[in-house]
Amino acid sequence: MKKTGKFFFVLIFFLSLQNLQSQYIIPEPVKMEVSEGYFELNESTIISVNGKEAYSDAEIFNGYLKNVYGFELKIETQSKEKNNVIILEKVIRSDIPPNSYEISMNKKEIRISGDVIHYALQTLKQLLFNKISKGFIIPCSQITDYPRYNYRGMHLDVARHFFPKEFIKKYIDYIAMYKMNYFHWHLTDDQGWRIEIKRYPKLTEIGAWRKGVLTGKYKDKSRESDTTVYGGFYTQEDIKEIVEYAAKRHVTIIPEIEMPGHSLAALSSYPEYSCTGGPFEVSREWGVFEDIFCPKEETFTFLENILSEVVDLFPSQYIHIGGDEAPKDRWKTCQYCQDLIEKEGLKDENELQSYFVRRIEKFLNSKKKILIGWDEILEGGLAPNAVVMSWRGTEGGVDAARQNHNVIMTPGEYCYFDHYQGDPRTEPVAIGGYTTVEKVYSFEPTPAELSGDQKYKIFGAQGNLWTEYIITPDKVEYMVFPRICALSEVLWTPENKKDFRNFKDRLRKHFDLLDELKINYSKAIYNIEAKYSPPSFSSGVEIELFAPFSNSEIHFTTDGSEPDMKSEKFIPIVLKKSCTLKASYFENGVKQGNTFVQEFDINKATGKEITLLNQPRKKYSVGGAFSLVDGIEGMLPWSGRDWLGFLGDDLNATIDLGKEEEISQLTVDCLNAELSWIYLPKEIEIFVSTDGINFQSVIKIGWNEINKFERNVTISFDKIKTKYVKIVAKNFGKIPAGKPGEGTDAWLFVDEISIN
Ligand code: ACM
Ligand code: ZN
Repeated sequence: MKKTGKFFFVLIFFLSLQNLQSQYIIPEPVKMEVSEGYFELNESTIISVNGKEAYSDAEIFNGYLKNVYGFELKIETQSKEKNNVIILEKVIRSDIPPNSYEISMNKKEIRISGDVIHYALQTLKQLLFNKISKGFIIPCSQITDYPRYNYRGMHLDVARHFFPKEFIKKYIDYIAMYKMNYFHWHLTDDQGWRIEIKRYPKLTEIGAWRKGVLTGKYKDKSRESDTTVYGGFYTQEDIKEIVEYAAKRHVTIIPEIEMPGHSLAALSSYPEYSCTGGPFEVSREWGVFEDIFCPKEETFTFLENILSEVVDLFPSQYIHIGGDEAPKDRWKTCQYCQDLIEKEGLKDENELQSYFVRRIEKFLNSKKKILIGWDEILEGGLAPNAVVMSWRGTEGGVDAARQNHNVIMTPGEYCYFDHYQGDPRTEPVAIGGYTTVEKVYSFEPTPAELSGDQKYKIFGAQGNLWTEYIITPDKVEYMVFPRICALSEVLWTPENKKDFRNFKDRLRKHFDLLDELKINYSKAIYNIEAKYSPPSFSSGVEIELFAPFSNSEIHFTTDGSEPDMKSEKFIPIVLKKSCTLKASYFENGVKQGNTFVQEFDINKATGKEITLLNQPRKKYSVGGAFSLVDGIEGMLPWSGRDWLGFLGDDLNATIDLGKEEEISQLTVDCLNAELSWIYLPKEIEIFVSTDGINFQSVIKIGWNEINKFERNVTISFDKIKTKYVKIVAKNFGKIPAGKPGEGTDAWLFVDEISIN
């Protein structure tokens, strides 16, 4: 009996080893080999350390074990233990690059050495997934690892919404977990001042509180706000505590104090540092505001006094001073500003901004700090030692690198985590955009056009989280995860090891850990992706669907019912009738992810040949002309994915119906969003032709009629037979005075054209 019991125990143990999951780490290490045998980490495992830093790293690791798994290990300095021991040796090694670590394991020990032990412990945390009753079995591995970039950052805006101290610490944990090393803390903006400054108490007495906030979206016409007082700030004690917390996790905090723009909260507290003298109110709305700091001597004294306190609180070598989105309207009409331009021999207000930044830089340099600014600090000339954070694309970064300045890349397209990360119809509200995990993963921080030496000016990259539409910590997590995982790999893993398919498979397993840590994350990577094209030999729309993972089957319906395994299996199809397409994908018979849902309106124009006289702007032309006749109505909130955007130009589209058809109605879907400078067309004219050369006007409608529509402009006319239809929708023209963007060309945004 006894013997059999033991035999079974051994057998079960053996079988469980057979089922051990293979290793997967995010970000993927430079080199990792799995060798023979297993190390069992359990409650009796001892951590041996060789000094203060390793001791602190071990303590943080222990805190994690305790929080997540309910046990911790004994830490000894230079332990004599030979068995069941994790040895941490902080050493500067000349044989591996800086910031490296090595892990080597056998049955008896895990030996970690390198100059940042902390990174090795993040890897070790991710190896704890083969659970046994009181610990973990870790297949022995040999790992050598170091980062690709020195700057691996995450940003958080606490001005638009305030997040409590405890959550900031959690956010720092997340940064550290992915071996990132900078936290860019956006502490001040128009909507709130969030850092206590002893010398200027009104900054937090007044500037930290706003008397309400927009309830709808910024782009809504109504712009309604509530009247609930909202705000909060961090005391200097809070900040010291957080800075120390971050330092223990090898994360440097870079504070951002915005100037000269995005400064309404400060100016509401101290209006004397504006051009007009105010009064001002901490903003309840999002956007860009014209009242900014006036470059008076008193203003510099004020800002330098603030920065002196900031510098004392943050040991970071870098201080961010913003510099973005500073309208020059006030400076243009301010006598002091104009006199200063003349006195300093400056060319214009851009050079005045440059003067402003140079003075602040000189001050920071005198405090042994380096200035970072958003890429607008290039305008009017860069301050001599400034680091540029390139957010409006990568061009600013390229420009700065060519001028021999260090650069941090944060282009909106790849690095703005306030964008949608999946289909806006199934994601919580976001500011706009479309930045999927795959898009983030595809980011290459070093632009190919830089020469060898200039390439070294790319210090790294950063994910930015602006919080206009992010009110709770839960949603911060949702917007950050799992895009932070993708970004960490962009920044850490060697370029030649980047492989999205492989990453996605690892990420999927990594979700188990996120569940264990109770992190709220988006599952958009499970979404089915679709591609639409004009069919080759018929009318309608050709549809291809792509499952996110291999070994899966897609099943679909067109009658509105929920697809299951018994529904028709998907192969590329041509839709010829209006319907709702629903599709799901299944692995081993089990549905994964959300159901894909798309409505199609198939009409006489759908899938027909369409030519455009004027081309839309590149950013808003992703689907090309076909997206106007693909049977799909443009999605709201709008993005460049399905809308075509014409700046100042008209829409002039000719559709070849393929044969003579009788038609009596045309609908053109246009966007009406004045706050985004997008206007309905001011006039629409429809023409027909049987030969495609000689066109005859059928109907023309003007602004009074068009303005009655919210978006789909439907035009009916007497029945007429035609093969070609031309529609000319005239751009609204210059934006009228008193409207956002006044005096500039309006955008015309068009999506579907339907003909019946
Ligand atoms: C920014 O997004 N205004 C830097
Ligand atoms: Zn002024």
